[in-house]
Amino acid sequence: MKLSQFVFASIVGILSIVANAQSSTPKMKAIIVDEYGGPDVLKLEEVPRPEPKDDQILVRVIAAGVNPVDAAARSEKYAKFFGIVLPFVPGYDIAGIVEKTGANIKKFKTGDSVYAYIGLGEGGGYAEYAVVTEVEAAPKPKSLNYIEAAAVPVVALTAWQALIDTAKLSAGQTVLIHGGSGGVGTFAIQIAKARGAKVIATASTANQDLLKKLGADVAIDYTKTRFEDVAKDVDVVLDSVGKDTLARSYGVVKEGGFIVTLVAQIDQAELDKHKIRGASLSVEPNPDELAKIGRLIDEKKIKVIVSQTFPLSEAMKAQEQVATGHTRGKIVLKVADEPK
Ligand SMILES: NC(=O)c1ccc[n+]([C@@H]2O[C@H](COP(=O)([O-])OP(=O)(O)OC[C@H]3O[C@@H](n4cnc5c(N)ncnc54)[C@H](OP(=O)(O)O)[C@@H]3O)[C@@H](O)[C@H]2O)c1
Repeated sequence: MKLSQFVFASIVGILSIVANAQSSTPKMKAIIVDEYGGPDVLKLEEVPRPEPKDDQILVRVIAAGVNPVDAAARSEKYAKFFGIVLPFVPGYDIAGIVEKTGANIKKFKTGDSVYAYIGLGEGGGYAEYAVVTEVEAAPKPKSLNYIEAAAVPVVALTAWQALIDTAKLSAGQTVLIHGGSGGVGTFAIQIAKARGAKVIATASTANQDLLKKLGADVAIDYTKTRFEDVAKDVDVVLDSVGKDTLARSYGVVKEGGFIVTLVAQIDQAELDKHKIRGASLSVEPNPDELAKIGRLIDEKKIKVIVSQTFPLSEAMKAQEQVATGHTRGKIVLKVADEPK
């Protein structure tokens, strides 16, 4: 064989090894974002299935929760703020079944049912498979199906970290929860009630029944009543609305009380003026809190409200709905059939 023939044959051999390796990489369907823009940048594609690193588990996703931040992540400004880089698979809430575990995983084994909040810099929930670390996942509450379980992690952890960890809400205190009918609000009302607090919650006319069903002691229709005419001298405010709602909230907190906002910088001058404390919150993964929330759900102390489900292929419609800022409970993507 001439040298040129040998070189050619070697290159062909190497290329066929690479091609074989690529074709043997398992594939999955996922929603990919490879440019910033509106919901039409969400594309359903076939991509390589992720492999779990030593500290990760690979989850076969049955359902993925949809959050306002999923839609925000398509904008360059927010993506950079959250540390999200193109191209990416959106989705931070999943429920599914452990397919494979990394070498250092102790808490989970193949076949376990889990739910997880995947950190914002990672994502990957809108897909048939996703990798998560042990600190992002907890056992799925037994009383929930996967669609319901996927509705829980981000918003329930947010409500818990705002009310319990940050504001230290205690039994007998009064809390004002803005946006009580949304993802965070529906959990916040129930977590506060389970804590023994008195709950005042706000929502529009159509959602007054939901506030009551979730246990709110006082329901305020913000389209008809100024909340400060009803809520006075509260111990804690949870704000998920911002702007004028946040600005008007400082004045309803009693001296020494606490205001937590999820959507803005807290205004220190306003806190000082009213002699109150406050903080802006950014939710963090927390497996112990996720497990505690799961127990409250299994004890029937917390209900999960899912108002709409969409197939994975209709992620665009799901994000259009969540971006309205008027979701009742949660929206969830069905990725696979519920296992029997
Ligand atoms: N900082 C964090 O870590 C963090 C974590 C989770 C969420 N968030 C943010 O918190 C916000 C809420 O999240 P979410 O998942 O609960 O959203 P969501 O499911 O869309 O719920 C929003 C709720 O707000 C209510 N609402 C709208 N305008 C209102 C107003 N002026 N006064 C009172 N209620 C009003 C809506 O009720 P009606 O339809 O009845 O108007 C709706 O139920 C989003 O901006 C989200 O990005 C931040």
